[in-house]
Formats: sequence, C-alpha cells, structure tokens
Amino acid sequence: MPNVVKIDKWNPDPAIIERAASVLKEGGLVAFPTETVYGLGADGLRAEAVRKIYAAKGRPQDNPLILHFSAPQETARIAKSSRRALDLMEEFWPGPLTLVLPLLDGSRVPKEVTAGLSTVAIRMPAHPVALALIEATGRPLAAPSANRSGRPSPTDARAVAEDLGRFADMILDAGGVDIGLESTVIDLTGEDVLLLRPGGLPAETIAAFLGSPLRTPGASDSPASKRSPGVRYRHYAPDIDVLIWDKKDALFMSGVDPALSGFVGLTKPPVSFARSIIFDSPESYARGLFASFREMESDGACRRIVAEWPEAEGIGLALRDRIKRAAAR
Ligand code: TXA
Ligand code: MG
Repeated sequence: MPNVVKIDKWNPDPAIIERAASVLKEGGLVAFPTETVYGLGADGLRAEAVRKIYAAKGRPQDNPLILHFSAPQETARIAKSSRRALDLMEEFWPGPLTLVLPLLDGSRVPKEVTAGLSTVAIRMPAHPVALALIEATGRPLAAPSANRSGRPSPTDARAVAEDLGRFADMILDAGGVDIGLESTVIDLTGEDVLLLRPGGLPAETIAAFLGSPLRTPGASDSPASKRSPGVRYRHYAPDIDVLIWDKKDALFMSGVDPALSGFVGLTKPPVSFARSIIFDSPESYARGLFASFREMESDGACRRIVAEWPEAEGIGLALRDRIKRAAAR
C-alpha cells in the first residue's frame, strides 16, 4: 500500500512522527489512529489545509470538524471553557469525549473548521500516536473520521487506504483501534448538557459524573438542525443494504434471504446465513461493526447485511445510533 507507514502504538518512532508532523506543517493530510476510529488530520489553524479534508472526504461544507489537542490547557486560546467543561476534561481526557464550546473571540480557528458556527468541538484522543503527532505539529489537528463521507468509519489503516489512499499524503498504521465507534459529542454551550452524538464514552457515565441526565436536543433547541450538523446525513453505510433485526422479533418478515445475506450481532441467529459474525460482548460488537460492514460488502456472497439491534445501555446506545443510520434509506 502506498504512503502507509507502520508505527508502534506504545512506542511511536520519533523519526516517523517528525515526518508526519512536517507533512502537516506544510499543509498536507495525515491519517492517524485514535482510540475510537482513524482520523484524517490537517493543521486545524490553516484554512487551505482544512479545505483539503472536505475535498478528500466529499464532505458537505456545513458539517464542522473536531479539533484534536494533546493537553486540556492547549484549548484555552480556542474555546471558552466553563468550570463544568474543565471538570469533564479532567475526568475523561484523554478519551472518547468531544466537547462543543463557544469559540473564543479572536481565536485563529478558520471558519472551515466550525462551518461558520460560533461554537467549536474539541477533544483529546487517548492514543499515543495521535498525542505524539499533535505535540510534534504544535497545532490542534482538525480530523474527521478517515472515510469517504457517508461510509463506515475506518477502524484500521487498510480501510483508510481503501477510501482515501489517493488523498492522504501519509497514513500512520498502528493496527486496529480499541473502541471502533466515534467519540461521544456533548454540547456545553447552554444550561443543559446536550447529547449530540452517542459514542465511545457512555452517556450514563457522563450523567453520573455530572449528577444529572443528558438531554437529547429537541425542537426547542434552535436552530435544531444546526445543533449537530453531521446528524442530518445518512452515514456509516456500506455499499449493500443494512437491515435491523431485533431478537425479540421473528426474522425475515422483510423478505431477507439469509443464504444471500451476512449477519452481525451478539446472538446466534435462528437460521444460517451466507456469512455471520457473532461478537461476545457489546464492546467487541462496537469494535468490529464497521469492519464487518466493509468485509461483507466486498464478499460476493452477501447482498444484504442483517445487524442485530443491541440493548440501549453502555456502548449499546452508540451502536444503535450507527446501525440505525447505516440502515436509513
Ligand atoms: O472519535 C471521533 O470523534 C473521530 C476521531 C477521528 O477523533 N472523529 C469524528 O469526526 O468522528 P467526524 O467529523 O466524523 O464527526 C464530528 C461530529 C459531526 O457529527 C459534527 O457535526 C460534530 O461532530 N461537530 C463538530 N463541530 C461541531 C459544532 N461546533 N457543533 C455541533 N456539532 C459539531
Ligand atoms: Mg465521521
């Protein structure tokens, strides 16, 4: 694979990190691993570098990006942090939690990052390679998931190369990711904490820390659709249809032929499929969901994918969100 460079997760070679950082400093794109999914990174303070991300992904211009930092204090010149935001950073960073905060007046964040909003999404990933890269670049990195827009997010370097091999100047390959679904995104700009996207950090864990439940944005949050622009689009979808199976329901009322379908889930299905991938926990289901989608779409035996509907607790809420949106027509 061209421009894919292997790097040790726990002991990243400083020479490789330096090379990747200089690509970023020159305005190039570097795909890198995080604990959630692989990201496609650019210098987050440089408009023309950030524009390359949108072009590479085919991403709608009105869907803002997350800025990645290597320490909480680096966010001080970019975002307005409340006491509550600082407490959340201290408790959950580095880790799969993204905070949406008011953009600081006079910050150098280009409008391409925020899609023109007055807020900015920030996160500190829990991955030694990501942290070393951000530090060596000396800039926050704008980084969406490193897939073509609408496709399943990449959980290994091969999936990145498949979607973006032509566009990334360099792909850092540190093997498979830990979580497999993106970070949890919460909005801290108002009184209530809003859950914009369920993700790697369970909503219950955040609520328990805050001592109050998270609110899901509703019609009264205006402009409603602006709250989480990414949520408007079909997402995470392989090239073949995804159908949802709730194990409480009978299988195949919907006319699925199991002999021509793949199955992913936690329960052994009552009939036999062309392919099936059964995970032993919701966490491993999360880790393997997107890779299973990619595997089955390229397996000629599967014309459809049936995905089991998991329970809504823990990582299950994020799994449900991704499966539901992959299945949306
Ligand atoms: O785990 C992750 O978060 C991965 C890794 C690479 O860090 N990144 C990721 O980025 O998932 P992306 O671009 O695929 O998703 C970012 C989400 C989108 O739903 C976007 O709409 C939302 O964050 N977002 C970004 N900035 C926002 C803002 N200012 N207000 C509301 N939502 C925002
Ligand atoms: Mg994405």
